[in-house]
Amino acid sequence: MRRKIVAGNWKMNTTPVEGVELAKAVAAGKGEVCPCVDFIVAPPFTHLSEVVKATRGTGIAVSAQNCADEAKGAYTGEVSAAMIASLGVEYVILGHSERRQYYGETSATLNKKMALALANGLRPIYCVGENLAEREAGKHLDVVTAQIEEVVYNLTPEQFANVIVAYEPVWAIGTGKTATAEQAQEIHAHIREVLRKKFGAAAEQTPILYGGSCKPSNAAELFAKPDVDGGLIGGASLVAADFLAIGKGFAK
Ligand code: PGA
Repeated sequence: MRRKIVAGNWKMNTTPVEGVELAKAVAAGKGEVCPCVDFIVAPPFTHLSEVVKATRGTGIAVSAQNCADEAKGAYTGEVSAAMIASLGVEYVILGHSERRQYYGETSATLNKKMALALANGLRPIYCVGENLAEREAGKHLDVVTAQIEEVVYNLTPEQFANVIVAYEPVWAIGTGKTATAEQAQEIHAHIREVLRKKFGAAAEQTPILYGGSCKPSNAAELFAKPDVDGGLIGGASLVAADFLAIGKGFAK
């Protein structure tokens, strides 16, 4: 049985003080959610240290939203995977569509980031997803296949065992438009098939999360699908009650 995961991508929101409060509120309400659900919160870099301390012993894991594509050195403004891991952070989101779109991240960059994250013991939450034009042209399966093949296929089986995949259709992120549960299931099953081709039965263990305007009102329907193992939540993760309610999408 795959673990269920509800991960909150806070993006560039909250001050460190607000972030600690938000993390504590999630920790305080976690007992009302099925113990089958693992919660992860992904605050900005500046909050990681304090949020790790605030969530210690609560069962809530912490993720970074990005890491550098170099190990160390003269890369002004970058934060390395080793620095992040040294704080007790367990995960890192890589390849989010906002990073691909606004910061020019390519598969070449992401191969380097994945290798560094894994070498430092971080578990990557690797994001894939098509934009609206690609969806309308019927190319969504091809786009996602390429994003997996160009990056995840370069991993060893040992590395692959630590990867979480997040399917986030770009047209659904922050737009209020959600993929239907059927659309999500179609592409999640496809992603698992693409992973199975390279990694065999290990693909059955890979959590595949849905992201894109996931909220309390649609989470249960999405999570009811066999290949939807949880969610990567943006906007709704900034309100503890909503984030927890999404977790309740998995029946106790
Ligand atoms: P959203 O963002 O839930 O605000 O649509 C999801 C994401 O980008 O991870």
